[in-house]
Amino acid sequence: MTRPATLPDAVVAALRCPLCSAPFGLDGRSLRCPSRHSFDLAKQGYVNLLHAGVAAGTADTAEMVAARVAFLAAGHYAGLRDAIAQVTAHADGLVVDAGAGTGYYLAGVLDRLPGAAGLALDVSALALRRAAKAHPRLGAVVWNLWEHWPVASEAASVVLNVFAPRNGAEFRRVLRPGGTLLVVSPERGHLAELASVAPVLEVDSRKEERLDAALSDHFELVSRNALRERVTLKPDDVRNAVLMGPTGHHPARLAALPEVTEPAEVTFAFSLSEYRRTV
Ligand SMILES: C[S@@+](CC[C@H](N)C(=O)[O-])C[C@H]1O[C@@H](n2cnc3c(N)ncnc32)[C@H](O)[C@@H]1O
Ligand SMILES: [Zn+2]
Repeated sequence: MTRPATLPDAVVAALRCPLCSAPFGLDGRSLRCPSRHSFDLAKQGYVNLLHAGVAAGTADTAEMVAARVAFLAAGHYAGLRDAIAQVTAHADGLVVDAGAGTGYYLAGVLDRLPGAAGLALDVSALALRRAAKAHPRLGAVVWNLWEHWPVASEAASVVLNVFAPRNGAEFRRVLRPGGTLLVVSPERGHLAELASVAPVLEVDSRKEERLDAALSDHFELVSRNALRERVTLKPDDVRNAVLMGPTGHHPARLAALPEVTEPAEVTFAFSLSEYRRTV
């Protein structure tokens, strides 16, 4: 019998009770703080620390998660996964992935860091069921990134943020001084050829300037690299690419999607921005 998935010790040590901020111990399959606040691990291995619901429309739906799993499993973003793992290849300790989804990138990072543990934070329990099994040194916690994170200050050597909401104040608080923040976002032109299938993501041309400005109090930009690739997607991949993006949140747009029968040549365009916590 396989052992049920659980939380790595380093992840338990970094977590804090969302009700009283005290450290947790793992008691069987429950996280418990000294004030006896208790949170059970789901059988899939993740734990839900959210005590309040989040507005609908923020968590990815089951259909979006399934599309993302299929798209990533086809290997289309393997180049991006490698590029991310390369930036973090010299880290140790704890890597926190803010908006980790199914844990695809965090697992790639942990593969290169034999001594490290990973904490996947996401509001989608459906995605975290996958993340909890994506790597043996990965712990998955349901949380809303816009709230104060249930993570000790200065616990992380790396914070990853891949196509997910950015909370600069919490990035700063949980990173140790000198730690690395890696923000990955789509660039202008990303999947632009799919405009005939679904509305494409509008990428603001001053987005990076805004990102740097928002982080400038506590972070300095260390490097910024663009990754561009032209690839041919099969019809199923095209559909998954649309479903897993912003269109996936809009049932009316999904219902109106034209049937895709032909492969499509598309552009992937990403930017990877590496910051160092200065103060
Ligand atoms: C575009 S997906 C990216 C997932 C993953 N980083 C990847 O690239 O495969 C955005 C993720 O952010 C999560 N998310 C959106 N709003 C959130 C919030 N307020 N708190 C936590 N996670 C959130 C979604 O559930 C989803 O998994
Ligand atoms: Zn407590």
